[in-house]
Amino acid sequence: MRILEVEHLSAWYPSGRTRRQVLEDVSFTLDRGQVLGLVGESGCGKTTLARAILGLHRACAGVVRHAFPRPQMVFQDPYGSLNPAHTLLWTLEEPLRAIGTGRKERRDRAMELLDRVGLGPEYAGRYPQELSGGQRQRAAIAAAVIARPALVVADEPVSALDVTVQRQILDLLAELKRDDSLSYLFISHDLNVVYQICDRILVMDKGRIVEENDTDTLFAAPKHPFTKKLLEAAE
Ligand SMILES: Nc1ncnc2c1ncn2[C@@H]1O[C@H](COP(=O)(O)OP(=O)(O)OP(=O)(O)O)[C@@H](O)[C@H]1O
Ligand SMILES: [Mg+2]
Repeated sequence: MRILEVEHLSAWYPSGRTRRQVLEDVSFTLDRGQVLGLVGESGCGKTTLARAILGLHRACAGVVRHAFPRPQMVFQDPYGSLNPAHTLLWTLEEPLRAIGTGRKERRDRAMELLDRVGLGPEYAGRYPQELSGGQRQRAAIAAAVIARPALVVADEPVSALDVTVQRQILDLLAELKRDDSLSYLFISHDLNVVYQICDRILVMDKGRIVEENDTDTLFAAPKHPFTKKLLEAAE
């Protein structure tokens, strides 16, 4: 089942009196349960693509179709998605409050998610600033999946974490996916991380998709010169 279709997507930022194009004719699809990687150099347009998919970038042209409940996003810096004014329990209940879930069910589901991301009930009353970076990312992931979206867009979700914690967060993402047949669009500049978690990979260069293939084929036999360059740089 298709959970995301992107067709001929272009995007711009204002630049003086004109505008500068940062995405150019991007098309791809994503099926339920798949993990799609998006790799490319800094500034090539990965975050802009993520924002455009979530409807957060206005200046675009093209078509984005997604399944409901709407896709959720996990950011590199989980401070961006966790409100410092509220406890984790409040933050986890919020997406459910928004869709009208009753009080008892909200509470139960929030406690269940805290448990599943490895935080446990004692974290319910904590504020984001009272957590470590890895714990904050666990909480942000819990908040992203609590309303059972079909798609989570994860933009460099482990880049700010040290290697041991990276491993734990990648394991957590893989585990949540197994249980819920979630899909991820997983954005990273780190090819080693992408290799571990993705089924397919999109390679972006200057706002265009230059190559798309399943992970093993892409790593074994890259076709586009830019993909070869990225792989060489990662070795
Ligand atoms: N708010 C903005 N206003 C103007 N230009 C922007 C804005 N945000 C990003 N850009 C430009 O758009 C281009 C794409 O940026 P984007 O953040 O999508 O890149 P990225 O691939 O996510 O990079 P990184 O790997 O560093 O996160 C860059 O040239 C960037 O400078
Ligand atoms: Mg980015």
